Amino acid sequence: MSCILGAPLSQAGGITITGLDLARPLPRVAHDQIRAALRDHHFLVFPDQALSREQQFAFTANFGPVEHHSGSDGQTKRYAAAHVITNLDNQGNPVDRSSSPVSNYRWHTDKAYYPVPPMLTALYAVEVPPFGGDTEFANTAMGYAALPETTKRRIEGLRVVFYWGAGAAKSDATARTPSQPREHPPVDHPLVRTHPETGRKALYIGNHSSHILGMPEHEGSVLLDTLLQHTTKPQFVYAHRWRTRDLVIWDNRCLLHRAVANYEIGRYRRIMHRSVVRGTVPF
Ligand code: SIN
Repeated sequence: MSCILGAPLSQAGGITITGLDLARPLPRVAHDQIRAALRDHHFLVFPDQALSREQQFAFTANFGPVEHHSGSDGQTKRYAAAHVITNLDNQGNPVDRSSSPVSNYRWHTDKAYYPVPPMLTALYAVEVPPFGGDTEFANTAMGYAALPETTKRRIEGLRVVFYWGAGAAKSDATARTPSQPREHPPVDHPLVRTHPETGRKALYIGNHSSHILGMPEHEGSVLLDTLLQHTTKPQFVYAHRWRTRDLVIWDNRCLLHRAVANYEIGRYRRIMHRSVVRGTVPF
């Protein structure tokens, strides 16, 4: 069993891989091909996979230690299974939470508020709306490369403070700290991080970023917003249109992503399984 690579999906990255059954143990050669494809294309689409949550977890664990999920899905802490993310309420009805400041509908990289954030995320489409419900990816290495040299010099060596809920604090000036207790204290990471495998530099920003160390808060906030607008311009972005049974894996070290509210969220169900692999300290 080895990978069959399709044509690149966009300038921003992406490639489709077929020829593998990810529910079965991954041969070493396929593992190495996937690692190389992820390094070169940043997000990989594996169509038509039949995966239980346990099988997804086992596949993801080929790439490193899989993180426990800190959300409401307490099950995941007890056994090795991908966790569930949906637009459903406790009664199983679709509900629109896309305007929440901490929602996945804002540009982010997964768990940037961890001291050691994940390198890879795997997302599996269990049930998707008849149209829309996309996930967008923005290439932050391309965004960095396209910055003017003066901006590159200005941001060199800066560090960004992240904490869970920083977006909530920003969008409500009366509440500088989020109402939920912080499971993780604030951390700071380089604004320009270096990819440990390619050496390419990329912007490290997005939701849950709060401010820049040593810079007046407003100035830092404006800079972060400007860089976010820059690196999410259409030429750096790809929108993945899901089909049921797609598994997509992506590299959090050079991409931002967000779910897109381009469907009737309060009407159609969107059920995904997610697992993330621990990375290394950004430098
Ligand atoms: C995520 O933010 O990890 C999930 C994105 C999505 O649901 O499309």
